[in-house]
Amino acid sequence: MSRMHRGLYALGLVAVCGTAASAQKPKAPAPAKAAAAGQDQNITAALNEAYAKFKGLQEGKNADYIPALAKVDPNIFGIALVTTDGKVYTAGDVGSEVSIQSISKVFTMAKVMEEQGPEAIEKTIGVDATGMRFNSIVSIEFSQKSLGGPEMNSLVNPGAIATTSMVKGGTRDEVWNSILNFYSDFAGRKLTVNDEVFKSEAETNQRNQAIGALMYAYGYIKAKPDQATDVYTEQCSVSVNAKDLATMAATLAAGGRNPVSGKQAMSSKNVPYVLAVMATAGLYDDSGKWLYHTGLPAKSGVGGGIIAVAPGKFGIAVVSPPLDDAGNSVRAQRAIQDIVARLNANPYAVASR
Ligand code: DON
Repeated sequence: MSRMHRGLYALGLVAVCGTAASAQKPKAPAPAKAAAAGQDQNITAALNEAYAKFKGLQEGKNADYIPALAKVDPNIFGIALVTTDGKVYTAGDVGSEVSIQSISKVFTMAKVMEEQGPEAIEKTIGVDATGMRFNSIVSIEFSQKSLGGPEMNSLVNPGAIATTSMVKGGTRDEVWNSILNFYSDFAGRKLTVNDEVFKSEAETNQRNQAIGALMYAYGYIKAKPDQATDVYTEQCSVSVNAKDLATMAATLAAGGRNPVSGKQAMSSKNVPYVLAVMATAGLYDDSGKWLYHTGLPAKSGVGGGIIAVAPGKFGIAVVSPPLDDAGNSVRAQRAIQDIVARLNANPYAVASR
């Protein structure tokens, strides 16, 4: 029995042996198809039920501080789960793409860990939750090194822009290409940028430019703060669907190896550091609430995506643009919480022995 199957039994799931199934990509929202050969019907049912339960939920609203995001169809609702043995489950609208936004921060942080070791992130940026909004300028003031910092992390805008500035490359193109290739290895396909979103955010991101300048002034960014903010803006504009995001999450769940393509996207020794920062800061000032209800490291983006990682078991992602006040997708939070509960995937929930 594989480690995955042992894990599913431990979770109370029924594991079904079989070949990895390829993902279905329906063009229009639709419930998941009946379980294909080799798929776990419990997982299929969990996704279908969550889709049906939250499809009509009308809370939240699209981000509009980036004008292009306000125009995205708020009805997009796609769910995908990829197991660490490469099985792909989907429900709803998994063909539609949204911009990855802050979910990108996870993978740029991972890239810097790969290039310079996890201690570079801990020492240069910090790994503590700020407890403040993702684009807080006050958090930078509190994090000044002269005050005993850093108390910052790579998953909020100031730490993320500084993290992007640490990616190695002689030119902007070199830096950008190595970031995009790294993301693509996690997704298992060549990802591209949504140029409309990139242009829209680049024209309106004066606040992030100020954050980049301040992080340079305080020594977090060593050179070229404008380039760092620009590359950061482009990384946020990468276009993804729910299956891409679930595969990226599953790669983290599988020790850095993409379970669909088989490619080792990052070293397994760095994965726990990535997951730790996701657990403490992945949903910003609501990270505690999220962990309280799911126990899983996760990351949200203002494009409407959320990924969550069940280490050794699966990655899950939901895409749905309307957000709550903290900037996290409403339907994505509700659907993932529901599926995690149904699959008994909270690692802190252990039956008494
Ligand atoms: O920098 C920004 O504001 C956006 N590109 C990303 C913010 C974001 O996704 C926060 N997520 N919940």
